Amino acid sequence: MPKAAEIRRTLRRDGSLFLVVKEPVVNGERHTFIHELVAKMKDRGWRFCDELIWMMPNPLPRRAVGRLKDAFQRILHFTLSKKHVFYPDAVRQPAKPTNGQSKRFRTSVGGFKIDATNFEYGDTALPGNVLTCAHVSHSLLHDSAHPDQLASFFIRLATKEGDIVLDPFAGSGTTLVAAKRLSRRWVGYEVRQSAYHAAMSRLEHDSETAYWSETSGASD
Ligand SMILES: C[S@@+](CC[C@H](N)C(=O)[O-])C[C@H]1O[C@@H](n2cnc3c(N)ncnc32)[C@H](O)[C@@H]1O
Repeated sequence: MPKAAEIRRTLRRDGSLFLVVKEPVVNGERHTFIHELVAKMKDRGWRFCDELIWMMPNPLPRRAVGRLKDAFQRILHFTLSKKHVFYPDAVRQPAKPTNGQSKRFRTSVGGFKIDATNFEYGDTALPGNVLTCAHVSHSLLHDSAHPDQLASFFIRLATKEGDIVLDPFAGSGTTLVAAKRLSRRWVGYEVRQSAYHAAMSRLEHDSETAYWSETSGASD
């Protein structure tokens, strides 16, 4: 809660907080802290905008007693206002094949015809809130590194070029590198020396874009 308060203090009123979390199993049962966390955040003025699921097609081959393998993590989306900045068109995905049906009208499972023009145009469609993305726990840089695509997805969804992306738990810097590549300014914190050095090395040697942050000073 103290960290959430600091994030709230520094977040723009129309900004977003995305929290990637998975409840551990404690004493043989799944912890419920996420439900408690959401309630506490709401008490402190956060809006619980949505919950997304990051589904991993390559779960770790761990044997869990009495449970199946963990194959998803939650992404909690918190905002401070109803009118938060949101760019869903920036994350459109290729539309699925339509089995010969017209692009405009699709027949839903229930047999109703639905006008698809509101949520699809051309060959792209808006993604749903279940995201499929392989995890990268084999990363040599960090034992719980997140995939680049996941970071890029949320950066494109909630910011535009020049905006500031903050990752207070930067790890190997995946989010910061993605922000830099997408021409956003970035700010990161990391307590572990080894992870900090991994992040700085990635940021320094990534040559896909100009070093926005060096001129803005946002990363100092
Ligand atoms: C799940 S990892 C982040 C992984 C990162 N997204 C990546 O792809 O490499 C969380 C990180 O937060 C760091 N951390 C934990 N508490 C922290 C704190 N109070 N301040 C800064 N970093 C912290 C940990 O050392 C760890 O590297």
